[in-house]
Formats: sequence, structure tokens, C-alpha cells
Amino acid sequence: MSKTFFITTAIDYTNGAPHIGHAYEKVLADAIARHQRLLGRDVFFLTGVDQHGQKVQQSAQKLGIEPAAFVEDITSRFIALWEKLDISYDAWAATTGDIHKHCVQGILQRLWNEGKIYKAAQSGHYSVRQEQFLTEKERGPDGTFGEEWGEVVEIQEENYFFKLAENRDWLLALIDKRSQEGRSMVLPEFRTAELRNAVEKISGDLCISRPKSRLTWGIELPFDPDFVTYVWFDALSNYISFAGYDATPGADLSIFHTRWPALHVIGKDILAPPHGIYWTIMLHALGFADDDIPNFLVHGWWNIAGAKMSKSLGNSVDPSALADHYGTAALRYYLLTDINTGRDADFSTDRLEQRYNAELANSLGNLLNRSLSMAKRYRESRLRRMDSPLAALAGEKTAAYDTAMNTYQVQTALEHVMDFVTRCNAYVEETAPWKLAKDPSQSDKLDEVLYTLAESLRIVSILMSPILPKESAAIRSQLQWTGPATMGNTAWGLLPDGHELGNPVPLFPRIEAPAE
Ligand code: ME8
Ligand code: MG
Repeated sequence: MSKTFFITTAIDYTNGAPHIGHAYEKVLADAIARHQRLLGRDVFFLTGVDQHGQKVQQSAQKLGIEPAAFVEDITSRFIALWEKLDISYDAWAATTGDIHKHCVQGILQRLWNEGKIYKAAQSGHYSVRQEQFLTEKERGPDGTFGEEWGEVVEIQEENYFFKLAENRDWLLALIDKRSQEGRSMVLPEFRTAELRNAVEKISGDLCISRPKSRLTWGIELPFDPDFVTYVWFDALSNYISFAGYDATPGADLSIFHTRWPALHVIGKDILAPPHGIYWTIMLHALGFADDDIPNFLVHGWWNIAGAKMSKSLGNSVDPSALADHYGTAALRYYLLTDINTGRDADFSTDRLEQRYNAELANSLGNLLNRSLSMAKRYRESRLRRMDSPLAALAGEKTAAYDTAMNTYQVQTALEHVMDFVTRCNAYVEETAPWKLAKDPSQSDKLDEVLYTLAESLRIVSILMSPILPKESAAIRSQLQWTGPATMGNTAWGLLPDGHELGNPVPLFPRIEAPAE
């Protein structure tokens, strides 16, 4: 039996409304998950929300409401957005859930029992306003801490620490081993060096507790009720807690092992240290084998007019409003075609409109419409199964698409599909079916053209289905092809002799600029 393809995204902080970066990551993971399903693989796609922590507690406090009520409201916005954007997740990771809490406490207890967590006094400069310890990095050139930290006091506090530093060499060796074997721990590969450098700099252990006097909105340490655990320790554990893991010695992990390891899809800001260092070392400490340490697909960031998106700049883009205005298809298509996986891009609604109009409305939408219209007009929608001059190209483009999708280069994959669509439109111009239809001696040629177009659209609809699930299904429905969308069914020639096509229905209406 082939192993499940297990894919996760970062779980989003429920400390503010969802933004375009959140939407991008989920759409990217969704496209990858759907492509794996096309390959016939069993997929387990996990996404969710990161609900605990200081920031959430503070935001709730400002509003004068309970943290639980605060996160419930924001969580419902994420859920509504994923529904609107057709995100096909199989499981939902919300970290205030009981199963998760139980699992995290099991992990903490086990690491404590095994001596991998210890208690120690921490002393240093503490910002009362920001409620955090400050390090030398936060000191300005004049040696003082900046105004943004408010009152800074020296305090001593007992906390629990997870042994990180002793695993530094193990992690370096694993990163190098993966690279040598050509299965880099981090994709795209250029980010591996970034992780490696951060690992080399590991000096101390990780403080994984917060005293309840400062923070109550978290998971209590099972061995000390005066503390909750650090939000990253809690959040990272979601990847296993919602996949059937249980740290209790002797627990039944049979379902978990059909899934694990996952491919973690995350943004570049949370590779090092959280995922690449804390998480890999947590798993190692829990006894996970080297082959069960996951890989990371690290995507870049969407910027707004060249600037980093931020709460304080107030320049974040609301994906839900965009989907309402332009449609889910336009938004998904834009987010997957205007960025190269791993790199940054600039978000622009002008680009979104241009690409949608040129590529979906004009190129693909038009091809569908004219193909079905001509078949109806000249042949009462009935096809003859003919050999085709585009069959070989369809095969090449499908293979190139598949290679790109398997390395998560969705932009490149879509370029191959759209190149093929462009070729199909050119083929219509070259063969001019409206002329062929007037010449009875060209009857076979006309049948060849009509079959070629319908068959091409059938294949394109399958290749597009991870990106535009609803519209791809609509294309197949207009073609009246009822076979399942699978990569196997992208083979040329599956529309049978005598197949009857449906009526053309416009699919990608143009986005019209508002009248000046
Ligand atoms: O980091 N463009 O949550 P988060 C693209 N809860 N991606 C972006 C982005 C942008 N402008 N801004 C953010 C967290 N992201 C933690 C994760 S995982 C155990 C815990 C990405 O809501 C970001 O890189 O701040 C991350 O992968 C995801 O959105 C969630 O960010
Ligand atoms: Mg963030």
C-alpha cells in the first residue's frame, strides 16, 4: 500500500484577520494536495489556527473580552475564508482543542521524564510593556533599550528549558546528509544555507515555559501548574497531535505512521529557528528516526507596493473581499501564477485583472467557447475520433506540468498548460474551421480539428483542476465527459468515437474596469 501524502501549512495566528499571505499559503498547499490526489494518492491535508499565546491574550484584554471569545471570532473568519477559497483540507488543527492539549502535555511530560527539559533561573532585562525578556540585539547603539520597550527592569525568573544546544551537531549532520542525497531538507534548495547558518549559531537552550503570573492563555505544564508552555512549543506540535500521535510510551501509533512524515509548507519567516531548529529537535528528542524528520517547502512573501505587509502600516489586503469582487477562480489563479514558489512577489490587483482577462477569459475561456460552438454548428456537437497533430505536444506539456508540480513549482506548471492553450488557439486560426466547413472535401480535416480541440480541453481541464477545481469541473461538464479527473486520464484520445459534446456556456466572464 502506498503511503499517504501528508501536507500541512503553518497554522495561522488568530490575532488578526486573515490576509493575502495566509490565503496564498493555503491555496499553494491546496493545489499541491489536489495534484497528489490526481496522481491517485491518498492525501492528508492539515491546516488550522494557532490560538494561544501572549499576543492573543493582550488583544483580548484590550477589547475587554475573554481570549476564548476573541479566538472563536477570528477562527470563524479563517474557516469561512477557506470555504470560500475551496481549500480542500482533510483535518482542522485548532490548538485550543482537547486532543491537542492532551497530546502536548504528553509530549512535555515525556521530555521532562527523560531529562530533556530542566528548570533553571533566568535573569535579565525584561520589558514590562512587551512582557518579554530582551537580549543584546534589542539594545540600541547607545547601549540602552529603545522607547518601544517601555519600562525595562532587571528580573530573575525560574523557567523550564528544552535542551536544544546538545543536538546542534546532529542537526547539522542531518541537513548535510539530505543535501548530499539530493533530497534537501529545505525547498527551494537555496534556503538550506539559511537554515544551516542558523543551526551553526545555536548557543543556548529554548525556554519553553511562561509563568502564569504573566501568561495564562496557554497549555499548562503537566508537571508544574504554575506555568503554561511557550506558544511555539504548543503550535508546532499540531502537526503530530492532529495526525494521531500520542507521546505516551506504548501508545498505538499505527494510523500516525501511515501518514508521517509530512511536507510542511511554511513562509520564509518561520523556517529558522521555529521549524528548522525547534521542531526538528523536538521530534528528534521524542525519538523520531532521522528519516522521519520532515522536509520544508518554504514560500516567499507577498509585498504591497514593494513594502512589507504589516498591521501597523495597515496595508494588508483582505482576501475575502477580493474573492467576492473578482471571484475565487481569479484570486486562486493570480496567487499561483504571479509568484515563483520560494521567491517574493508584489501583490497588485491590476496584475490580477490583466492575467485573468488575458489568460482565463480570453485564452482558455474563448477556446472552450469557440470549440463547443463550432462543434455544435458544424457537427451538431457529435465528434469523430480522429488522429491529431497536437497529441504529441499534449503529452509533452502534461509531462512537463507533472514534473513542475512534483517539485511544487506551480507557476511553471501552469505556464506549460497555458502554452498549450495558446497553441490550441493558434491551431484554430491556422486551420480556420469556418472555411473547412464550407468545403465538403475538407470534411475529415474539420473532424480532426473539432476532435483535437475537445480532447485538448478535456486534458487541460484535468491539469487545471488543482488550481481551479470548480471551473475545471465545469469544462468537463460542458464537454459531457464524465470520467474521473486523474493524471492517468490525461492520456490522449479518451473521448470516444461518436461522443456528443454539451452546449457552450461562458465560463470566465471578463473583469471590466469600472467606468471612469
Ligand atoms: O507564523 N506573504 O502565523 P502567522 C506570504 N502561527 N506569506 C505570509 C505573509 C505574506 N505577506 N505573511 C505571513 C505564524 N505569511 C504561526 C505559525 S506554525 C506551527 C505556527 C505566512 O499567522 C507566514 O510565513 O503569522 C506563515 O507561514 C503563515 O503565513 C502564518 O503566519
Ligand atoms: Mg507572522
